[in-house]
Amino acid sequence: MKRPFRIAVTGAAGSISNSLLFRIASGDMFGKDQPVILQLIERAEAMQALRGVAMELEDCAFPLLHGVRLHDNAEDGFRNVSHALLVGAKPRGKGMERKDLLAENAEIFSRQGKALNDFANPDVKVLVVGNPANTNAMIASRNAPDLSPAQFTAMSRLDHNRAKGILGNHIGVNAGDLTHVAVWGNHSPTQYPDVRNAKAFGEPVMPSLDQKWVEETFIPRVQKRGGEIIEARGLSSAASAAQGAIDHMRDWELGSRDGDFVSMCVFSDGSYGIAKGIVYSFPVRCRYGRYEIVQGLPIDDEARKRMKATEDELLEEKAAIEHLLPKETEAASQE
Ligand code: NAI
Repeated sequence: MKRPFRIAVTGAAGSISNSLLFRIASGDMFGKDQPVILQLIERAEAMQALRGVAMELEDCAFPLLHGVRLHDNAEDGFRNVSHALLVGAKPRGKGMERKDLLAENAEIFSRQGKALNDFANPDVKVLVVGNPANTNAMIASRNAPDLSPAQFTAMSRLDHNRAKGILGNHIGVNAGDLTHVAVWGNHSPTQYPDVRNAKAFGEPVMPSLDQKWVEETFIPRVQKRGGEIIEARGLSSAASAAQGAIDHMRDWELGSRDGDFVSMCVFSDGSYGIAKGIVYSFPVRCRYGRYEIVQGLPIDDEARKRMKATEDELLEEKAAIEHLLPKETEAASQE
């Protein structure tokens, strides 16, 4: 039998985790032969609710679940983990300014970055889901000087999956038969969902797509899908966000599909002229537990404009909290 993976999840009593934990424990993330130990982290106030989640996990009698530990602090929760899913974050309160939201999360993710640095496995893979996810991932990495920035990623896979779902539905093709869809930039309404290279059954879809539909319906719909779901459900995306996290981690660990790429927010290495030192969603391929940014995709003026707008937003977010961070190292600005 394989050795269990120790997986930390923060925000473990929240809505996304209510889908995510059960999917991890059933083998959807790392395969039906990979045992797991869950190290669940919550705020002290939510520990009672977390105990309820742990009881439900026990009641599922998952054969792959080799242990559940509950923690009210990141330092204990991240001890010896090989994978960390940072789902909990400070939500935007009523009347809260964006810069205050960024600052409050900077505090949370600075502490979590330090704890990952000091207590997690040296090769830990980190996925940040909690918003503002890209900048939170950057903050965590900046506080983890002994870990490579390449170990810190944020989630744009939900946006990627949304783009495939909406495009597939529009052209009457199953999402699984679509490839080469990409999401660039920030996990926010400035993101650029890009179907210029998309293929259905291996054939380019652009020639048969109405450009007006792409620009005026498809792109804004994907960008604002989170808000559309809140309006319909009265709650933000939870099951689909959990699916995005499952897909992201599975592909990173086990490899992405041959002949295709996926979207992940990773530290920019300057590819496509995007500034180094920010966590930006790129098309990537995953192999042997690592990812690489797909190079050489054609970028026209319209795409360049959209990629720049979302890059500028990330640079602004970074500037707003830069004074709260340790000095940028050469590695952080290069990898
Ligand atoms: P939720 O409010 O239901 O749950 C969040 C949980 O995090 C709460 O139980 C809270 O107690 C906990 N938490 C807060 N601060 C914490 C800390 N410092 N340590 C440990 N736990 C902490 O929220 P939900 O719906 O589960 O969403 C979680 C986050 O994911 C939000 O920030 C949301 O905006 C974000 N999100 C990101 C998406 C993406 O695609 N990147 C998609 C959907 C949501």
